[in-house]
Amino acid sequence: MPESVTITDNRTGKSAEIPIKEGGVSAAEWSKLLPGIWFYDPAFGATAECESSITFIDGDAGILRYRGIPIEQLAEQSTYLEVAYLLLNGELPNKEQLAKWTHDVTQHSFIHENVRKRFLEGFHYDAHPMGMLVSAIAALSTFYPDAKDIFNPESRYLQTVRLIAKMPTISAAAHRFSVGMPFVYPDNELSFAENFLSMMWKVAEPHYKADPRLVHAIEVLFILHADHEQNCSTTTMRVVGSSHADPYASTASAIAALYGPRHGGANEEVLRMLNEIGSVENVPAFVESVKAGKGLLYGFGHRVYKNYDPRAKIVQKVAYDVFEVTGKNPLLDIALKLEEVALADDYFISRRLYPNVDFYSGIIYQAMGFPVEMFPVLFAIARTTGWLAHWAESLESKARIARPRQIYTGYDERPYVPMAKRS
Ligand code: ACO
Repeated sequence: MPESVTITDNRTGKSAEIPIKEGGVSAAEWSKLLPGIWFYDPAFGATAECESSITFIDGDAGILRYRGIPIEQLAEQSTYLEVAYLLLNGELPNKEQLAKWTHDVTQHSFIHENVRKRFLEGFHYDAHPMGMLVSAIAALSTFYPDAKDIFNPESRYLQTVRLIAKMPTISAAAHRFSVGMPFVYPDNELSFAENFLSMMWKVAEPHYKADPRLVHAIEVLFILHADHEQNCSTTTMRVVGSSHADPYASTASAIAALYGPRHGGANEEVLRMLNEIGSVENVPAFVESVKAGKGLLYGFGHRVYKNYDPRAKIVQKVAYDVFEVTGKNPLLDIALKLEEVALADDYFISRRLYPNVDFYSGIIYQAMGFPVEMFPVLFAIARTTGWLAHWAESLESKARIARPRQIYTGYDERPYVPMAKRS
């Protein structure tokens, strides 16, 4: 059977055979036969925007791989910085490469004092940390004008290191500001995750020592959130990057996309939802209200996964490890019951709605002491790696500026009506 499709323009009787390559057909070939006829595909449900060799997802089978390596193996055996190297470079680092990469990221974790004192401390006391993060990362572009040199690999490396290194520092600073605690400077003796926890929680002790089980949980959660191919924020990064904006402006736009409750803000919504449900007995009534269209079951459903999100299984296991340290979050029982009731209900079965990565992540973060507003921030810290890997891949592929078409449904030409003649 030929691996191709044939399309026929019934107005002219002309046909074209288009080969199917890697599961896709070229829109350019289509346009040769049908110039000016656009694919109508709101939300890009059936459109591949790019070729990418970074992350593979099989949503029906529940498979996720970074550069070919199953997410389960990375979560169990790797670290966030090693995964970051893998995503950015395509291969796992050897010992020397990992040492240099870790050293470089560690050395760039400090932020310019003006970023903290002038920008972050200028916000209202109850500013949402995601809003602070979007603004602070955009502001970094003014501190590093060399970032505009986007086709210089050395400059790209430097900005990549800076962004990955400074995200935890700015995120923790945003939190400390919101609770009126003094800023904690990065500690170069600590690992990426340890340092983040130190900047979050250190009080008066000379060196903050996080429980290794909590450090491990943060590593795993960051690995799971590091990339997820063409999600809303990564596509935003590619689209903004295609205009050749610098990586700080592009990353700020990706964070803004992540902010929404349908994307990175979902874990925040899950917690609010579980609190609202309040107890296990209220779960069936809540599920009925979702089915009646009175709201969403947050943490359920995914554009690509029509099976259990493989990350959700790992997160569920991490939850038990964390609860050994923190004590069980009582919301876990509500979440487990919610999952049990939903997965047995025809509404969710027929729509193939399963728990996604964020169904359980918020419960862990809350048990560790993070306020709900910080949940999407934690997501953003981890996803910065994926955004930058896609940004670099897009630049290297010489991607054209992103510019979709539209199906115009407005007025035909009509004259301007002066104010005096308007009804
Ligand atoms: N609760 C109840 N019903 C849902 C849910 C949900 N969480 N998700 C989808 N549905 C229903 C829709 O109402 C729709 O029903 P219909 O066919 O009767 O109209 C059907 O399932 C298909 O859903 P769509 O909205 O078409 O799916 P889409 O792919 O556009 O949206 C999304 C995916 C945004 C993730 C959606 O499932 C959702 O809003 N989920 C809750 C928010 C969430 O958890 N987001 C995190 C995503 S993962 C991430 O970003 C890390």
